[in-house]
Amino acid sequence: MIPPIANRFVAGETHGAVVDHARELETRGVRSICNRLGEHYTAPEPAAADRDAYRSLLDAIAAADVGACISVKPSQIGLDVSEDCFRDNFEQIVDHAEESGTFVWLDMEDHSTTDPTLDAYTHHANEYERVGVCVQANLKRTPEDLRRLADYPGKVRLVKGAYDEPGHLAHRGRAQVNDAYRGCLDVMFERFDGGIAVASHDAAMVKHAVDLREEWGTDFEIQMLMGVRNEVQYDLADRYDVWQYVPYGGKWFSYFSRRVMERRENLTFALRALVGR
Ligand code: FDA
Repeated sequence: MIPPIANRFVAGETHGAVVDHARELETRGVRSICNRLGEHYTAPEPAAADRDAYRSLLDAIAAADVGACISVKPSQIGLDVSEDCFRDNFEQIVDHAEESGTFVWLDMEDHSTTDPTLDAYTHHANEYERVGVCVQANLKRTPEDLRRLADYPGKVRLVKGAYDEPGHLAHRGRAQVNDAYRGCLDVMFERFDGGIAVASHDAAMVKHAVDLREEWGTDFEIQMLMGVRNEVQYDLADRYDVWQYVPYGGKWFSYFSRRVMERRENLTFALRALVGR
């Protein structure tokens, strides 16, 4: 059972909890990207178990007829076991999603996983248009990847990047990463016909996308994490297509701890909740 304090960032442990959250969110005009917490499995069994859990979640989303999709981490479905294991599990998830027409995202992990993740995405994107992949603005290779991804019909989610990458591969300072993010958005609006997802809580990045939409006329969607700037999400949903990334599942503790430790305001929130103020 997830304590109320963690419920700000994690929907619950079960499919029922995540579907209930998605239903509630939909009343505020925001749709859900459901992520089952789990990563870096080094044996095939837990990877297969999470693959099957995603297939059941897809059934639950379809049965509830709720505005939701899923987002999967490559190392959660076998990339640390072998590329074949990952590709096979991903294919089974995509095949299942196709039955109900549900969207499937691939999260992006550290730079060592970029090529196999993009390869799995491009392999499916030509046959099933409801797939998407995340790319990270902090990686120096990303503008080039975006130019290549522009030829595929799926969606691309642009994030700043959550992994501590080496300086020869990545922009590292805050200002440099923000510049790189804007540069990647420039490439996306110039090259993409659609399928642009701006995943950032940074108002300056969202504003840059809004300006680019004025210039190019291409629509985009905004994605933010559950529990981060919720009110901003509801407000933006009056004008834009907004999706919330909603983690759930039994492995909630380390995700919750990361969210609390990464920002002073989250730590303050957690401490207030603990002392009841
Ligand atoms: P930045 O970190 O500069 O934050 C801007 C402002 O937003 C901050 O000043 C703060 O006020 C607020 N804020 C941001 N994060 C907050 C938090 N946790 N709590 C409270 N306030 C916060 N990364 C990755 O490498 N692979 C992936 O697949 C994904 N997937 C993904 C999906 C979605 C929907 C989102 C929103 C993010 C990701 N990320 C990710 C994470 C991403 O790389 C990045 O680490 C975070 O989004 C933080 O970057 P921002 O763009 O929000 O800017």
